[in-house]
Amino acid sequence: MTDLPAPRLLDQFGRVGRDLRVSVTDRCNLRCTYCMPAEGLDWLPKPEMLTDDELVRLVAVMVGLGVTQVRLTGGEPLLRRSLVDVVRRVASLHPRPRIAMTTNGIGLDRLAAPLAAAGLDRVNVSLDTIDPEHFSRLTRRDRFNDVVAGLKAAADAGLSPVKVNAVAMRGVNDTDVPDLLRWCLDRGYDLRFIEQMPLDAQHAWDRSRMVSQAEVLERLGTRFRLTPVPERGSAPAELFLVDGGPATVGVIASVSAPFCGSCDRVRLTADGQLRNCLFARREVDLRGPLRAGASDDDLAELVVAEMWAKKPGHGIDRPDFEQPQRPMSAIGG
Ligand code: 5AD
Ligand code: SF4
Repeated sequence: MTDLPAPRLLDQFGRVGRDLRVSVTDRCNLRCTYCMPAEGLDWLPKPEMLTDDELVRLVAVMVGLGVTQVRLTGGEPLLRRSLVDVVRRVASLHPRPRIAMTTNGIGLDRLAAPLAAAGLDRVNVSLDTIDPEHFSRLTRRDRFNDVVAGLKAAADAGLSPVKVNAVAMRGVNDTDVPDLLRWCLDRGYDLRFIEQMPLDAQHAWDRSRMVSQAEVLERLGTRFRLTPVPERGSAPAELFLVDGGPATVGVIASVSAPFCGSCDRVRLTADGQLRNCLFARREVDLRGPLRAGASDDDLAELVVAEMWAKKPGHGIDRPDFEQPQRPMSAIGG
């Protein structure tokens, strides 16, 4: 294609931003223990949230700077009423970015087909266990069947490959890991485990309790024969063929073996703050300038400068590591 914009989201370490994650709401209908306290959080007030027009305009600016994939996240993105419309508008940008979504799956049974028709390409559905009781303990809500129905609807709507994201929590669902893989294999879903990161609103993360990549592999190894897939590319998941393939399982060692060196991500929060990293301790306000009449070029300059300042890594293992002020649910996964 000749009309691809020159990539401009460069940083001092040679990385290029391509993958924009947009949190379309900070609200959620689950209360996963690794994410939120039981009572939920103080949600963003409506006037602080980007309107659809503002959100699509900022995405367009980012596409002009070389973004090729837009991932819609939350909180729970399906809770934004205008989501189908947002997808349709992002899909009409030039050059059209690939559009993905990370969701907890609740409501996807109804929305998968309209979202696919509007231009959504792929989904990642979070599901940490197939034991309904463990699910309720982990998410503090009795919605297991809704997630299962959502996953099926996503597959039926052709949002493939349907990926499942899982976090293993010690003493809650760590022993469920092989059952979850069996269940996903039987349905053709691509399962990826993610190490729990210090991004919970309660600041209760404890490295010594984290279920590591090594531990997940050990548990899977009791039931399956796993062989590493050699070429990993820039994808964060380390992939393994299951019982000789072709099915694979991924394990994302975000903490024990960070992939910061090949990170191509940049994030926009629901209230219009740009973050160059999930773990960034600062944000750049785009909503203020946008509402004050900034041009697309002005906004682009703010973005380019912030990307340049991206740190080499999250530094979770450094003694001076500090969790970001915002929890994951307000940043977007
Ligand atoms: N560590 C790792 N993954 C997390 N997620 C939410 N909080 C955390 C955390 N602290 C996952 C969700 C979802 C995606 C957005 O990130 O389960 O799959
Ligand atoms: Fe909601 Fe996702 Fe947080 Fe769970 S991890 S409470 S589904 S935002």
